Amino acid sequence: MAELSVKFAGLTLKNPVVTVSGTCGFGEEYAPFYKASELGAIAVKGMTLAPRDGNPPPRIAETPAGILNSIGLQNPGADAFIERELPRLKAEGATVIANISGSTIADYCKVAEKLSETDVDFIEMNISCPNVKEGGVAFGTNAKTIHEITSSVKAHSKKPLIVKLSPNVTDITEMARAAEAGGADALSLINTLLGMRIDLRTRRPILHNNVGGLSGPAVFPVALRMVWQVRNAVKLPLIGMGGIASASDAIEMLIAGADIIGVGTAMFANPYLPLEIIEGLNAYLDENGIGSVSELSATVKPW
Ligand SMILES: Cc1cc2nc3c(=O)[nH]c(=O)nc-3n(C[C@H](O)[C@H](O)[C@H](O)COP(=O)(O)O)c2cc1C
Repeated sequence: MAELSVKFAGLTLKNPVVTVSGTCGFGEEYAPFYKASELGAIAVKGMTLAPRDGNPPPRIAETPAGILNSIGLQNPGADAFIERELPRLKAEGATVIANISGSTIADYCKVAEKLSETDVDFIEMNISCPNVKEGGVAFGTNAKTIHEITSSVKAHSKKPLIVKLSPNVTDITEMARAAEAGGADALSLINTLLGMRIDLRTRRPILHNNVGGLSGPAVFPVALRMVWQVRNAVKLPLIGMGGIASASDAIEMLIAGADIIGVGTAMFANPYLPLEIIEGLNAYLDENGIGSVSELSATVKPW
């Protein structure tokens, strides 16, 4: 049997499969299917300092091979996460990635400080949410701001800091380099791609927010391309995500340069997908005589 455990930003994960932020709540919806401790890690819904109601509905629109969402960071706030959700997840033995957002750099720093005093394993800084006016993607589409917010939050964080990159930029490698220079311990990519649908009958956008973030299999080739580009631009460990819907997608993502992979939207159709990916990856490694996941990462042979 191949070695599935992976070293990632200083910690050892039991396997390279994580569920991505916003698609698995705080783990409770998937609890009837399997334990979060069977995953490499679970990235919880993005949290802010104060609770947020999110955007008005409709907040989800279907698209061919994907969905558009404009949830707008609905969450109970960092204190409620720490008091109510985190103890349950840790008692189950889960490795927890706490995903954070804010309207100002000071907000991000305060949430990071709070989480630093808990037993979350990683802090993932979302600077790529396309669904809130203030904060989110406003920080993540400018290299100078990425450097500034990364170095500030890093100074307030005692946990490994993962910076989550936006695909809604001209050159993602520039953003990755800025996060690396700012002191990030790892990068995750990609967040959703900005999109839109219109109801022909009313001529109104389907989403109340007019626009939203596209995720699911439709974005997979874009995510794969960006992970490959970023792998060639920085030395940081990478979580590759965006449209992964099968073990073979996950294996492609690892070969392109990801150290570990994230699954999100495709779980809405198949909640068991993360376990199927772990099984499929194990079989692929054995069949190809590859001893460990890390031996597979970044082994693409470009033409
Ligand atoms: C409904 C929904 C909510 C999301 N909420 C968050 C969030 O709170 N924070 C975050 O960093 N990313 C969020 N994302 C982005 C995902 O974590 C992921 O980057 C993206 O969906 C691409 O992966 P996928 O195609 O496998 O879903 C959300 C995505 C969806 C579909």
